[in-house]
Amino acid sequence: MARRRLRTIRDLDLFEKRVLLRVDFNVPFDGDRILDDARIRAAVPTVRAVLNLGAEIRLVTHRGRPGGKVVPELSVAPLAARLEEIIGIHVQVAPGVAGPPVELFLAELAPGELVMLENVRFEPGEEANDPGFCRLLAGLADAYVNDAFGAAHRAHASTEGVAHLLPSAAGLLMEKEVTVLSQVLDNPREPLVAIVGGAKISTKIGVMENLLPRVSAMLVGGAMACTLLKADGAAVGDSKVEEDQLDTARRLLDAGREKLALPVDAVVADAFRADANIQVVDARRIPAGWMMLDIGPETQKGFAMIAEKEAGTIVWNGPLGVYEMEPFRGGTETVARAVAKSPAISIVGGGDLAAALAQLGLEDSITHVSTGGGATLEFLEGKDLPGIRVLEED
Ligand code: 3PG
Repeated sequence: MARRRLRTIRDLDLFEKRVLLRVDFNVPFDGDRILDDARIRAAVPTVRAVLNLGAEIRLVTHRGRPGGKVVPELSVAPLAARLEEIIGIHVQVAPGVAGPPVELFLAELAPGELVMLENVRFEPGEEANDPGFCRLLAGLADAYVNDAFGAAHRAHASTEGVAHLLPSAAGLLMEKEVTVLSQVLDNPREPLVAIVGGAKISTKIGVMENLLPRVSAMLVGGAMACTLLKADGAAVGDSKVEEDQLDTARRLLDAGREKLALPVDAVVADAFRADANIQVVDARRIPAGWMMLDIGPETQKGFAMIAEKEAGTIVWNGPLGVYEMEPFRGGTETVARAVAKSPAISIVGGGDLAAALAQLGLEDSITHVSTGGGATLEFLEGKDLPGIRVLEED
């Protein structure tokens, strides 16, 4: 698909303008503690660039799924506090999202102060992309910049609707994500190798179908590999299989069996627990009572070799085993080390995998760790994302 040019902040005159800057700070929390601030750090270059252009910023983000109601536990206050720590500039939190109290609050700010509006999903008009709510948001600013790649697959007021009402452009993170992921689809450095893992093939099938004709090899791990193995007639024991996806899996095998690398051996356990009994078996002969929880050592070696020695571009989504349990980490870890060592351009998507790479200290050896979850998948499926479409030139 030929992409249209994305409008960028270089196309806007932001000097002394009020800018509505949509970011995706929807980060994982454990209670009050932010578990991973990668999305916040990734937006900092845009915040700085927009400030340097002489603009005043009204930051907008969602957090969680409050469903159009005020849920105090989903306030953006801890996100503003973390941004403040990172950027070293005070970040105020507005007393709401839009409307008269917020307008009053904004009017009283000193020039140059950074403000974050409250969780935009506290407003029912956000997810409904309600025209009235879009107008309220637009009324807070002179221009709109969208850096929320992670939410670009949502046609909400703050990701899509408001862009029709103000001069609008992509932020630096949005621009980078679109450039890197477009290159995978349209113009990769060959050979292109995809690595796909995770629990469910149903969530990855669109990406697999779109990438299969483009890749020289697709390496498959995670529980989803068991659905493919079973569809191919293998005995998978008590492994997790999506029975309703077996036909889809057969279709995928018919479309590109020669490119699909399935596990040849498996680390299996007799229970879904870190302290279960474990053995390594042939991935096509998993005994009853045992389930595959990681790819086996032969498979790890094979996948690592392809990643390190054969690929020109690697695109990887989803862990290859149950990474959160130590005994089933080997596949993801071995392949991650090979990807990190590889001279290939490497693009990794998905929060779980990004967290695993960070834990292994390999983040900096990857060309690009995408901040998108669902958005990255939909982009790689070849879909037109509404939050991006609206920023493209006609
Ligand atoms: C994400 O975390 O994938 C984005 O922030 C989008 O969140 P959502 O799935 O709640 O729309």
